[in-house]
Amino acid sequence: PASKTAQLDLSGQRWVITAGPTREAIDPVRYISNHSSGKMGYAIAQAAQLAGAEVQIISGPVSIGVPDGCKKIAVESALQMHQQALELANKADVFVACAAVADYRVSDVATQKIKKSADEMQLNLVKNPDIVADVAALPAKPFTVGFAAETQDVAHYALDKLKRKNLDMIAANNVALLGQGFNSDDNALTVFSSKNKTELPLASKKILAEQLVQLISQHYIEKK
Ligand code: CTP
Ligand code: CA
Repeated sequence: PASKTAQLDLSGQRWVITAGPTREAIDPVRYISNHSSGKMGYAIAQAAQLAGAEVQIISGPVSIGVPDGCKKIAVESALQMHQQALELANKADVFVACAAVADYRVSDVATQKIKKSADEMQLNLVKNPDIVADVAALPAKPFTVGFAAETQDVAHYALDKLKRKNLDMIAANNVALLGQGFNSDDNALTVFSSKNKTELPLASKKILAEQLVQLISQHYIEKK
């Protein structure tokens, strides 16, 4: 319930949240990207800010407004998001990776618009750095929370990411289910830490964000 967040006191804590998609340029007029409205990340930012935290959102291009009292750092590409994240995470208490980062970028971005010619064409892609994994590898590692948007075997893939990226928590959702994830206003999450599993059933992203911030805060305090 909303009252839980009201009781939360995050004052003195610095939270850094990545949100939205990244855009990987192909040429001056085209890009590769992911589905992501930014709604979940911005809702988490708002909930943390209302509970007293100092909140910075590192955001890819989205069409929603910045929550009151939060600071937004606008980025486009995964490399830009990576650079900002590592810089800000060094001084953060909590880092939440909500962004839908493009896994690959175009290896040679064309400086001029690519003209249509042959019936088939290839794009060469190179893997982007893993932002949340690099944050979790910092000597000054903040309490690090990832997301896992999966279409199948949700728990299996989420637990694998928790371990592989050395995260403190991961919030998993099944984006194949109708009315959840992506552009939806609602979502349902299963949250894993190394010891616990918590189900946050289908609710508005606002309510879910409040519950998740509460859960993150509990685990962060326990870990300190
Ligand atoms: N993430 C990140 N940097 C990347 C890719 C992902 O910080 N280059 C973060 C996301 O913000 C999310 C978590 O890692 O918090 C999991 O993202 P996801 O795309 O589900 O995992 P991947 O490791 O990219 O694996 P895959 O896409 O193959 O499932
Ligand atoms: Ca990915």
